[in-house]
Amino acid sequence: MPFDRRAVLAGAIGALALPSPRRAFAADEVARVDALIARMTLEEKAGQMTCLADSFRPFNPPNPQAGIQDEKRLAEEIRKGRVGCLFNGIGVAGARRTQEMAVKDSRLGIPLLFAGDVIHGLKTIFPVPLAEAASFDPAMAQRTARAMALEATAAGLHLTFAPMVDIARDQRWGRVVEGAGEDVVLTSLFAAARVRGFQGRDLRRDDSLLACPKHFAAYGAVSAGLEYGSVDISDETLRETHLPPFGAAFAAGALTTMAAFSEINGVPATADRELLTDLLRGEMHFRGFVFSDYTADEELVAHGFAKDDRDAARLAILAGVDMSMQSGLFVRYIPELVKSGALPEATIDVAVRRILYVKTAIGLLDNPFRSLDAQAETTRIATPAHRALARESATRSIVLLQNSGVLPLDPGKRQKIALIGPFGADRANLYGPWAFYGDPDQGVDIATGLRAAMADPALLTVVQGCGVRDHIEDGIASAVVAATAADIVLLAIGESQDMSGEAQSRTVIELPPAQQKLAEAIAAIGKPVVVLLRHGRALALHDAVANAQAVLATWFLGSETGHAIADILFGKADPSAKLPVSFPWESGQEPFFYDRKSTGRPVTDEHQTEYKARFATTDNSARYPFGHGLSFTRFTMSDLKLSDAALRWDRAIEVTAKLTNSGDRAGSEVVQLYIRDRVASRTRPIRELKRIERVTLKPGESRTVRFSLSRVDLEFVGAGNQRIAEPGEFDLWLGQSSVGGLHGMFTLYVQEQGKG
Ligand code: GLC
Repeated sequence: MPFDRRAVLAGAIGALALPSPRRAFAADEVARVDALIARMTLEEKAGQMTCLADSFRPFNPPNPQAGIQDEKRLAEEIRKGRVGCLFNGIGVAGARRTQEMAVKDSRLGIPLLFAGDVIHGLKTIFPVPLAEAASFDPAMAQRTARAMALEATAAGLHLTFAPMVDIARDQRWGRVVEGAGEDVVLTSLFAAARVRGFQGRDLRRDDSLLACPKHFAAYGAVSAGLEYGSVDISDETLRETHLPPFGAAFAAGALTTMAAFSEINGVPATADRELLTDLLRGEMHFRGFVFSDYTADEELVAHGFAKDDRDAARLAILAGVDMSMQSGLFVRYIPELVKSGALPEATIDVAVRRILYVKTAIGLLDNPFRSLDAQAETTRIATPAHRALARESATRSIVLLQNSGVLPLDPGKRQKIALIGPFGADRANLYGPWAFYGDPDQGVDIATGLRAAMADPALLTVVQGCGVRDHIEDGIASAVVAATAADIVLLAIGESQDMSGEAQSRTVIELPPAQQKLAEAIAAIGKPVVVLLRHGRALALHDAVANAQAVLATWFLGSETGHAIADILFGKADPSAKLPVSFPWESGQEPFFYDRKSTGRPVTDEHQTEYKARFATTDNSARYPFGHGLSFTRFTMSDLKLSDAALRWDRAIEVTAKLTNSGDRAGSEVVQLYIRDRVASRTRPIRELKRIERVTLKPGESRTVRFSLSRVDLEFVGAGNQRIAEPGEFDLWLGQSSVGGLHGMFTLYVQEQGKG
């Protein structure tokens, strides 16, 4: 059993491992489900395995227009018991009407599950998940997920298609924005935290929102970052890099997951029995049910894996897909597939049982109108408390990449500020992708946030300068006038939200030329420039942008964007976030990640770069590395100590160091612990993150940070997909990013019989 979930948990989410809210099913619940299944026709069983877009409550769907049923047809299907789940409709009144249709008009009255893509907010929009990962604070993510769950369940949803836990190591892939970045431990911590936040401690509470960690598996490893592309990775890499976040999510209590659109090594995930049954259920002990992704079963034909829709349905079910999303293939083909003997009815019964168990677990069979409370809808959505939390989370997501000392600005100082760029007063791109329930006019843009923070708002001038992609007539000229008259320039540039997210892979991860040209014109004036980047991925920054006096990575921050940016600019909050993704020098370095391999010719001396593992024109490093982020104060680390230079196989060592706030203002630092296995039976990364701790200190204050390490932290997936650790020497760094830090060494050894 090579995939040891316990090992992943012990290593990755020790701090967050609270009792899982999962519950064993009582005997009477099992009997009830079995009795129900015994009464179901094949068509009704296929209906439970069918999930369709809710066309009663349409909104601008985030998906291609495929398989959309008109309201009349959908109502008929529900009354015939041919639908088990609706997704992406919100609103209690509509949900109640639909649920009554299912419960009162269908033969068996099985309640519908209502699902939706609440990825980073329903009406209160929180920072995109990648931004929130920059907080390096899973507890923060748990709090915001809980707030999202309060809003989503108040709007009549039972389940969210989140958290997205794909490890993303190629910034050309648009969906990097939806996850927690390039690192397996950070992503595992956030996966567990978000599941716990969504689900709470009791699935039967009407404010508990089922999670659906997605997309199983390794979707983030698509070749060249090409959306929906192919994945070709070893079994070891699959288990070591891409599966642990799912393991952490399942251990935190997730009872559903979603198969990925992509293929792994020639087999589409949606039809991959080794992946969805042998590995997911056999090795990882997953006990819930599996959604297909949107029409992904139908797409097996386009993959060239199924010969037609009927074959696609058969292959998906045999692989382990329990709930088909949007294609309708299951309800169309299961009766005939079973009657013809092409599909055992017992296989269908297993899938239906999984789905009914989940509906039982959240109390839906006892109370079909669970989470359909009109009162909650008026009191739990877009509350001031949620807006305050969104502001706190946004402030904690902003990464200070560089600062000449120009920041923080003095809010009391009379200084003319020019806010220049396509995102200065823009409200259409505050939320980022996957926030379609949010109301764009409810977001706080940068200009509004600045005016609210300034003693004299009249000192702010706002000029667009250029479009997101295009020049504006006289745009640069008017921007130059404003910058010339100002004491300081804030340059609001980056990606629009339609440049990020699903189906937004980019070949070049740079600023659009029109924006770069604006930046060059502004820099030439010679006033201090602070770049406020808006983005859903790491970007390759150049020239005037990279040479600005200060650069802030502000991602897509959600409802409270303007206030959070103003809080940081004027020093009301101290920047404490760190990069969850490496920023390369050039797009061509992608896929780029910090925990890369040494190779046989690493660059060890920057003056000796011939015949070394680097690009001819670009160093194989990051402009801003994973884990990097500055503060307005200055933190120093000293006194690294290991409780023992030798780690016994079955013991642990303690690693401590002193962190000091050597500056003149309070601040927070994220201390990061990395290791390197010097010699092993598989080449090991030059660094691997193992622990993080966020510490807040007053000026002059010091604190000892303390971590423990055991053999479990040193395991990797070796021959035969076995998780193993190997005795030998390890490097260890305790630092403030994935580069540098206090260095130590220790040895892992196996004690000889009878010896210590
Ligand atoms: C999309 C996405 C998936 C989402 C689903 C429902 O295509 O791949 O993440 O949850 O369809 O909208």
